[in-house]
Amino acid sequence: VLKTLDSQGSVANSNDLTFTLENGQTVTFTEGETQALLKGVLDSLASREMITYEIHTTFDHALLPEGSQIAAKGSHEALVWAALPMKGQGEPMGIPELKKVVGDETTKVGQGKAFKNKWITKEGSGFVKAVESIQDTTRAELEEVAKTGTHSSGEKLLAELRKRKLIVQRKHIHYSIAKGPEFALEVKKLETDLTTDMLNSGAWKNMSYKKYNFNAAGAPPEGGALHPLLKVREEFRSIFFDMGFTEMPTNKFVESAFWNFDAMFVPQQHPAREMQDTFYLKGELGFNVAITPISDMCVPPSSEPQVSQPPPQEYFERVKKVHEVGGYGSIGYRAPFSEEESKKLLLRTHTTAVSADMLYRIANQEGGFKPVKMFSIDRVFRNETPDATHLAEFHQVEGVIADYDITLGHLIAILEVFMKKAGLGNNLRFKPAYNPYTEPSAEVFSYHEGLGKWIEVGNSGMFRTEFVQVAGIPEGVRVLGFGLSLERPFLLRYAMNDIRQLVGHKSDINFIRNAPAVRMDRA
Ligand code: PHE
Repeated sequence: VLKTLDSQGSVANSNDLTFTLENGQTVTFTEGETQALLKGVLDSLASREMITYEIHTTFDHALLPEGSQIAAKGSHEALVWAALPMKGQGEPMGIPELKKVVGDETTKVGQGKAFKNKWITKEGSGFVKAVESIQDTTRAELEEVAKTGTHSSGEKLLAELRKRKLIVQRKHIHYSIAKGPEFALEVKKLETDLTTDMLNSGAWKNMSYKKYNFNAAGAPPEGGALHPLLKVREEFRSIFFDMGFTEMPTNKFVESAFWNFDAMFVPQQHPAREMQDTFYLKGELGFNVAITPISDMCVPPSSEPQVSQPPPQEYFERVKKVHEVGGYGSIGYRAPFSEEESKKLLLRTHTTAVSADMLYRIANQEGGFKPVKMFSIDRVFRNETPDATHLAEFHQVEGVIADYDITLGHLIAILEVFMKKAGLGNNLRFKPAYNPYTEPSAEVFSYHEGLGKWIEVGNSGMFRTEFVQVAGIPEGVRVLGFGLSLERPFLLRYAMNDIRQLVGHKSDINFIRNAPAVRMDRA
C-alpha cells in the first residue's frame, strides 16, 4: 500500500490494486477474507496517521442460475413459442409433447406466459404460434444486467427480476486511500508506554507514540461485587417481607454476655459459654466499653465508636433473680449469678441476642405491646474448626413472632410457608430438642431430594414464660421463634459441597464476582 501511494500519490479504488508478492505471485484484495486483511492493514496505517482512507459501498446485480439460463437460451415463454408450428402450418402441439421438447419446467412457466403475451393460441387440443416473430424482453433485460450489473430502466424492473429470483443484488466495498501526515515508506515501531529510562535519557523526544485507541474494549473494571451469599440473603429478605415480617436491626457483631446468654436464660455455667465455643473480646469488661462497630458488609462503618448500653437496671435485676431463685413458674438455676460474667463482651453466637433485646423494647414501647412478626439475617460467630459444613462465622436466619394465643401449630405453619417459598422443600419434620430459652423446642428437618435424606435446617421453639414475662410481655401473649442458617440452603442453591469456598482463603474470587443472582422457586 505504501509503495503504491508513493508512486501513484493516491488510490481511488482499492479493488484496482494488484500487489506483487516476493515470490512473484500477484494478489488482489477485493472480497471476503482478503478484503478484511486489507482493512486491517489500512486501520493499522491510519492509526499511525501514515495514510487516510474512506470506505465506499456500492451495489450491483448478478444473474442467478435461472437468469443465466434465460440470458443464454431465451425465456421459457420464448422457448415454448419457438417449439410450436405456425398457425395453419403444422400439427398443433399438446402439453405432453411440449414437455418432451422443452422440458417440464419451461412448459409449466412458459406456456401460460406465452399465452398471456398472445404469442401462442389454442388449436384443437394443442397450441400453435399466433405471431410470426416475438421480442424476448426478459432475455434482453437479463443480458443487459449481466453486462452492466444494472438496468437502464431502473429499480422497478430490477425489483421485479429479483422477485422472480432471476437476479440478486450484491454489495461491494472498496477503499479510497490517500497519504497521511505521517506518510513514510517504513512502518516505525510505536511506543505505547513512557518509561523512566526514556525520561531520564531524553530518548522520549525522538520516539513515535501510538495514538490512544478510544474504541478499544478495555480491561474489565475491577469493581466490587455483591457476595453470592448476600444475593441469597436478599431473596430470603424479600420472602420475609412478602410474609409481612419487619426486619430487626442486627448490624453490630459485639454483644455483652448479658444479651447473648443471661437474658436468654442460658445458665452462667452452661458449656456453650466456654471459651472453646464462644469468642470473647480481650480487655476491659463492662457494659460501657466503647465498641468499634464491625459493620455489616452493606452498611458503611460509622466513624463514631459505639458504646454497649447497659441493660435497664430493673430488667437486669429480674433476670438475675430468675437465674438464682426462679419466678414466673420457674424454679431457677439456684446457683450464684455473677454480674462480672454478664459484662463479658463477645462476638454474638446467635442473633437471638438481638431478638431478646427487641422483645424487651416492644414490651416496653410507648403505647404498650403490639403483636409483631420480625426477622433478621446476619452473621454469628462460633469457635469452631472450619470443615466442609462448618465455618467459625455464618449467617443466621432468625424469625420471632409474638401474638396472643398462638401455638406450636403456628410455628410449624409459618416455617412450612417460609421453606416452601424459599424452595427448600414442602416436606418438613420437627424433632423435640432442648434450648434453655424455649419450651417446647424443635429441630427442623427438611427432606432433600438430591441427597435422598433428611437434613437439619434449623432450630425453633416457643419462648419460655419466664423469658417472655421478665421482658414485660403481657400475659396471654406467646412468642415463638426459629433460627435457620443461610449457608446450608446456599450450598444447595449453587450446588456446592464445601462451605469454605464461600469465605476465607479457599474461596475463588472469580466465583464471588461472577455468581449469578438467585431466584428461589417461589411457591
Ligand atoms: N438461637 C437458636 C440457635 O442458635 C435458634 C432459635 C431461635 C431457637 C429462636 C429457638 C427460637 O440455634
